[in-house]
Amino acid sequence: MSDNKAHLEQNYQGQVVLVTGGTKGIGFGIAVGFLTAGAEVIVCGRKEPETTPQALVNGIPKKAHFIKADVKDTDSTASLFKTIEEKFGRLDVLVNNAGGSPFALADKASPRFHESIIKLNLIAPLNVAQQANYILQKNGGTIIFIGSISAMRASPGTAAYGAAKAGILSLVKTLAVEWAPKVRVVALSPGLVKTESSHLHYGDDAGIAKVSATIPAGRMAVPEDIANACLFLASAQASYSSGCNLLLNGGGEMPAFLNANENN
Ligand SMILES: NC(=O)c1ccc[n+]([C@@H]2O[C@H](COP(=O)([O-])OP(=O)(O)OC[C@H]3O[C@@H](n4cnc5c(N)ncnc54)[C@H](OP(=O)(O)O)[C@@H]3O)[C@@H](O)[C@H]2O)c1
Repeated sequence: MSDNKAHLEQNYQGQVVLVTGGTKGIGFGIAVGFLTAGAEVIVCGRKEPETTPQALVNGIPKKAHFIKADVKDTDSTASLFKTIEEKFGRLDVLVNNAGGSPFALADKASPRFHESIIKLNLIAPLNVAQQANYILQKNGGTIIFIGSISAMRASPGTAAYGAAKAGILSLVKTLAVEWAPKVRVVALSPGLVKTESSHLHYGDDAGIAKVSATIPAGRMAVPEDIANACLFLASAQASYSSGCNLLLNGGGEMPAFLNANENN
């Protein structure tokens, strides 16, 4: 184990971390990050995954605990937190990660679709955060909302999603005030992240390479990048960070004139 990993392990030993939607994609990577850092990690999703997040801690495999829950359903969310209190007796970090949207142009998508996307990406994270706050107020802790670059620029094909993620940035500011000083509330807004589902948005390897070339860092983020930022935001090193948004987008998108010059 590298010195860096040993340092992380000390950071989260004895802490309980909930990652909503930690059964695949970015959430899976965040769960592995906190497991590696020594935390007791709970992941939830609507379906039990074939593979639960796992990490080697002191050479011993450690698995996340799966609790089935649909965050769009308030009863299911309440039952998730009841189970956490009964089984673990505490909570230190919530990563409000479950979310996403398929591509649908705003004039073609149904009102029901728009409602469902706003519910998953704005209302549900608020309900989950509220439930978490009741427990976090006892010992203090951190809530990280996973936002998106879509909150800060036009989001064609995912209009409701972009609007919901913009709402998250407002929520974070207000909750950080209402729940201080015991609970810190922050947003982490990724740019483009490569997951097992990336082909649905960007196509094959050639499509991913084309997208990667538009990012100053020269690559899309990977879930481990998001996990590392979460480990910082939930740590004592970030104890003065609240109500803020960490934009993690590899330097942003290239200005269009750069591409235009290349073609000249
Ligand atoms: N991928 C990107 O490029 C990117 C960029 C910026 C921001 N983000 C944000 O990062 C987060 C994760 O995205 P991702 O790409 O990793 O998504 P993903 O691969 O589609 O995974 C979504 C996770 O959320 C769970 N989930 C979905 N609906 C749920 C519900 N109603 N209740 C409980 N769990 C639910 C899924 O499990 P079940 O299906 O079993 O419920 C799964 O574990 C989202 O908030 C997304 O907006 C992603």
